[in-house]
Amino acid sequence: MTTPRRALLAHIEFLHESGNLYVEGLGEPELEAIATSGASNRISSRPDRRATPKTKTPRTATTKAETPEPAAPISKAPMPAVNLTFDERAERLAKAARAVDECTKCELCKTRNKTVFGDGGAGARLCFVGEAPGAEEDRTGVPFVGRGGQLLTKMIEAIGFERAEVYICNTIKCRPPQNRDPTPSEKEACRPYLEEQLRTLGAQIIVAVGAHAAGYLTGVQSSLGAMRGKWHEFEGIPVMVTYHPAFLLRSPGFKGKAWEDMQMLAARYNELNPTDRREIWHKASK
Ligand code: URA
Repeated sequence: MTTPRRALLAHIEFLHESGNLYVEGLGEPELEAIATSGASNRISSRPDRRATPKTKTPRTATTKAETPEPAAPISKAPMPAVNLTFDERAERLAKAARAVDECTKCELCKTRNKTVFGDGGAGARLCFVGEAPGAEEDRTGVPFVGRGGQLLTKMIEAIGFERAEVYICNTIKCRPPQNRDPTPSEKEACRPYLEEQLRTLGAQIIVAVGAHAAGYLTGVQSSLGAMRGKWHEFEGIPVMVTYHPAFLLRSPGFKGKAWEDMQMLAARYNELNPTDRREIWHKASK
């Protein structure tokens, strides 16, 4: 379980890596020093108490397509897709996970080691949707646990959430061999599982992680740069789009933009949750 101290370290590290905090030669010892010094008092790890981020010029040149468009104004609060109790949600998710375990609808069932259904509690208000499991995920059966997953976890913790408080899944539930792109027919075969998952969960906000998930969830076929910075929808649930952590590992200059996305997410979350009802999550993460 993430401690407040670990959340703070992740927050500082991500701020630093995204160009919003500069600390000469930042490494573990320096992070520790910041976390234990008075300086950390000025940095909040909760979204409702966060510091206003500094706007900084991204470290890499950007193309026109990457320039975010102004965020759409907050409209209606979303209704859960289905009106279920926590236990009903948990039961339905478990049932869908069992169906995925037995699924043979596409060729990926022949090469997978484990199916990768989802990670998180049935009461999660934020749901992150990636593309497809990789090697580590196929080995463990848990989404986003490889290097990219560790960065995604850091991004989540950087806005004050524990990984166990959010829900994480993928558009498809089995690893494509050699991490190739899923084919359209594989994606279509898997779509009912994701739809059932998202409808059952009834999250307040969905985050599409990477261009594949963004297109798949919103039906918008556009560059990720053009889609981020504004709100989209999946069946009435607001969808935010951000960079895939694997891309951020290859192109760290975009971490500043990812940080802006996470701030936009935290702001929307705060709008929807003026009082932070954390007891729901604590039940969810058991
Ligand atoms: N990349 C994804 O999109 N999902 C995972 O679970 C792991 C890597």
